[in-house]
Amino acid sequence: MKIIISGYKGFIGSNLVKRLPNHTIIGIDLKDGNDVLNSEYVNGLFESNDVDAVIHLAAIAGVGYSIEHSEEVLTNNIVGFDVLSKAAIKHNVKHFIYASSSSVYGDDGTQKSPYAVSKATNELQAAMYSNLSNMKFTGLRFFTVYGEGIREDLAISKFIKAMKTNTPIHVYGDGTQSRDFTYVDDICEAIKLILESDKDWKNEVLDIGYGESTTVNELIGILKGIINPTFDKVVYEGEKAYDVKTTLARPNKLYEWFGFRPKYNIKEGLTDWMN
Ligand SMILES: NC(=O)c1ccc[n+]([C@@H]2O[C@H](COP(=O)([O-])OP(=O)(O)OC[C@H]3O[C@@H](n4cnc5c(N)ncnc54)[C@H](O)[C@@H]3O)[C@@H](O)[C@H]2O)c1
Repeated sequence: MKIIISGYKGFIGSNLVKRLPNHTIIGIDLKDGNDVLNSEYVNGLFESNDVDAVIHLAAIAGVGYSIEHSEEVLTNNIVGFDVLSKAAIKHNVKHFIYASSSSVYGDDGTQKSPYAVSKATNELQAAMYSNLSNMKFTGLRFFTVYGEGIREDLAISKFIKAMKTNTPIHVYGDGTQSRDFTYVDDICEAIKLILESDKDWKNEVLDIGYGESTTVNELIGILKGIINPTFDKVVYEGEKAYDVKTTLARPNKLYEWFGFRPKYNIKEGLTDWMN
């Protein structure tokens, strides 16, 4: 297949590209100076390539960052989706896969950050354009992803660095907040299955997460076991209003439709990654 992957130089994108050797990949990334908001450039790419599918990963991804930079994040993530999906429809692309996020769930079904709103909006945009076209849409709600090339702004990344340098870890809240941590290998395997599947649907949203929630305190304990067993520099600070209390994927559709269950629980994923 010929596939456009936006955000292909990011954490998940760069892992994904390595796992799709049998496909022709056309990457779009700001890191190359190419912007998904640039409609002329994006349409030009579709015009000069017969594209079968799009995997739209390009976004400004930080929850905390989006609080201070809401206009930038909303514009980038919402308009970026619009430009790319509209161009894909215009050029008869069959399948548009895009990154949503566990953050759309919030604590009670309402979002707690501009970033989460941008992802919830992407799901609305997919539903809307699927009403107006025959392109198949698949939204993937990724749950806290970790592994090779992880973004430096993510808590796991900061914790690992602190343990390796024996400097303090800052935890917001009491550490009982929990996340469904998902290994990037499992994320990429699920995307590959969905991309290559013959199964038909119009517009679907799937959770992609391991299916178990681990508290931040438990995560610190696991990381200590792997990196620095005597580490004791954990500083607890006030909780952030935008932090959700817990996330937990319901990966049952992935199993029912594709027979796929993520392989790595948090301990296995961290161990695999660090060895
Ligand atoms: N990492 C996670 O835990 C996680 C969880 C849920 C959802 N997601 C989503 O998955 C996707 C990939 O996340 P990631 O962790 O790899 O993030 P990342 O920041 O590492 O990668 C995103 C990439 O998109 C590019 N980009 C951003 N805006 C762009 C634009 N306008 N035009 C072209 N390129 C642009 C960036 O340069 C970057 O290389 C994002 O949509 C993110 O919101 C990630």
